[in-house]
Amino acid sequence: MATPPLRMPVPGERTSETLRRIRDESGPVLPIEFPGEVKAWVVTSYETVNSVLTNDDILYRKNIAHFTALHDGTIPDDWPIRQLIGGDHLLVLDGAEHRRLRSLINRAFTPGRVAGLAPRIQEMTDELLDRLADETGVVDLVKAFTEPLPVAVICELFGVPEGVERNQIREWSNVLLSHTATPEEATETGAALVGYLAAFIERKRGAPGDDLTTGLIRAQEDDGDRLSDDEMMWILWLVLIAGHETTVHLIANAVIALCSDRAQLALAQERDAWAQVVEEALRSRNSVVGVLFRYPQQDVRLGEATIPAGEPIMIGIAGTGTDPATYGEHAGRFDITREDQEPHLGFGRGPHFCLGAPLARLECRIALATLFGRYPELELAIKEDEIGYTSSFITEGPLALPVVLGAA
Ligand code: HEM
Repeated sequence: MATPPLRMPVPGERTSETLRRIRDESGPVLPIEFPGEVKAWVVTSYETVNSVLTNDDILYRKNIAHFTALHDGTIPDDWPIRQLIGGDHLLVLDGAEHRRLRSLINRAFTPGRVAGLAPRIQEMTDELLDRLADETGVVDLVKAFTEPLPVAVICELFGVPEGVERNQIREWSNVLLSHTATPEEATETGAALVGYLAAFIERKRGAPGDDLTTGLIRAQEDDGDRLSDDEMMWILWLVLIAGHETTVHLIANAVIALCSDRAQLALAQERDAWAQVVEEALRSRNSVVGVLFRYPQQDVRLGEATIPAGEPIMIGIAGTGTDPATYGEHAGRFDITREDQEPHLGFGRGPHFCLGAPLARLECRIALATLFGRYPELELAIKEDEIGYTSSFITEGPLALPVVLGAA
């Protein structure tokens, strides 16, 4: 490697900022080094990210031993990666194995099931906001709203009854995704969640409902292929992990964008353009800043660089939406009136394209429309540059979001 590797994380800089900066200063493909002298490459432009995501010879799984070794003890504990790995689920499978699982899940996770959740998502959103009705001071919107909503929606999707069990799942997933849990706490909590999910699937076999878990139990291919209990357990695990923090942060990032530009907020209100707000947040303020490493099966030419077979590539999603080569000179500006030719890569692309995209879109739209519909004067209680963000190379969002709700 000719250029000395960039060390990540860069102290005092958000991962999204680092990715944008190095894209502009050093080009779209760069060697990087993580703590523990872990070497990798990072791609940051729309074009290079797109080509890595859609190249069938750049895989997750073939180098699984390396993948595990790489993440075992070398990545800092506050970078939530360990829990994403878990067991054999979609995010660590490729090719035929991956296609088989996805096809079985698609039989249960249908557009109809997602659309059918809309009234409940609306009710749960209303309930959370009702609890804030008497608040006149500063409220942490993450704690009160953006964090509890996604986990409640996922529990609803799974068919977990309201009450003690939901609270327990919420606690577990908070520990797993927390940036302060010790590795021991994360392992213990992960084991408790695995145990719960296995027993929950067993219970659903005896008492089916109109939910994703029952749908997965019933999912069957024409040739009779079905999901094993273990596969089902890892699917639920992945949906809980993948669908939680991503959504929490996207809602919060969109709130920040709208509060920082009241003209955009007014436009969204006037035109009822909440779907555009969500798309624009996914493009320019996405909660996913990078996705799990991929490994080329043979030497691959990307931009000006040749990445040798087997070397890990970090995919810098956060660099793509703000890439001036694709989105022009004002790429970084949050603007719901944009008419771009290129669809954003906020949900990824190719075989691993976000399975929960329709649900995430629906949920974020309802959350934002209802929040600002009820509190049109909502504003940040601190300056935008005082907001503290999570430090991770996968997701990014505010650790807390102090706001004043204003008149309802
Ligand atoms: C995959 C983003 C919400 C389930 C992905 C990927 C991205 C992404 C970028 C691609 C990963 C890769 O290529 O390695 C997001 C964002 C969300 C969100 C920004 C919220 C705003 C959700 C929700 C669910 C979900 C709500 C489930 C209910 C999944 C699953 C995968 C995935 C299962 C793996 C698909 C596969 O490997 O085949 N997501 N996601 N996501 N997402 Fe999402």
